[in-house]
Amino acid sequence: MSNMNKTMIVANWKMHLNAHEASLLVHRLDDRIKIHRDVEVVLAPSMLSLQPLSLQIDRRKFRLAAQTANEHDQGAFTGEVSFTMLHDLVHYVIIGHSERRIYFHETFEVVRDKVAAAVRNKITPILCVGETHVERKNGETKQVLHDQLVTALSNLTTEEVENVVIAYEPVWAISTFGGELAKPSQISEAVDLIRSQIRELYGERVAASVRVLYGGSVDDHTISGYLEVPGINGALVGAASLNYHKFSAIIDAAYRLHHKVKEG
Ligand code: PGA
Repeated sequence: MSNMNKTMIVANWKMHLNAHEASLLVHRLDDRIKIHRDVEVVLAPSMLSLQPLSLQIDRRKFRLAAQTANEHDQGAFTGEVSFTMLHDLVHYVIIGHSERRIYFHETFEVVRDKVAAAVRNKITPILCVGETHVERKNGETKQVLHDQLVTALSNLTTEEVENVVIAYEPVWAISTFGGELAKPSQISEAVDLIRSQIRELYGERVAASVRVLYGGSVDDHTISGYLEVPGINGALVGAASLNYHKFSAIIDAAYRLHHKVKEG
């Protein structure tokens, strides 16, 4: 089954849960979540938990993602972890999350180099893009998305871009940055912009096959509405992914919706 036909749900645990707590949460999720062929569940724990979780997870149910990594393959970069080191452990890596851009001053160029380093090491980037509240108010959303996308993808070939996952995360909708609920019409407009920019740069086929996720205050109550937005292939979930009731309910909703769409 092609990736496009699956719904992708990513748990971004951010800097929460030590290795023991992460393992417990995976145990609980494993009990609660069934094997779904059409729903891909990706867990992004702290760097420290990746190794033990890679041994613990049922690979039919879960895949792992890193939350970031360094753009260099190796070298004198105290405290950093490279994509080369992650390459056996994870399928995906989240790159350019707004917390990295805002708190750790990741520039467009650093994001571009990380995307290229991930691809070079056979790890699929989940590239986060999204405007701030001020940028939206000033009518700059289209320009911001354009600039973030064009720079981040500029060192990839067309074939490589086809595999990238893009997460549209308006900064103002992320729970810890304000948590204003985005309207489906705002998301649909942004997804159209993202796909049309990809179409202009890489052509129709790539625009149609790139997966686009939505992220920002997604929980068990809002998930269905967001997954129904045309052009959305899944969700990036922060706070709600730390709670196994909420996160497993999100997976259930994705599964139900997937089947409703297929049957309907
Ligand atoms: P949230 O976080 O679901 O807590 O809003 C999403 C994210 O930051 O990826």
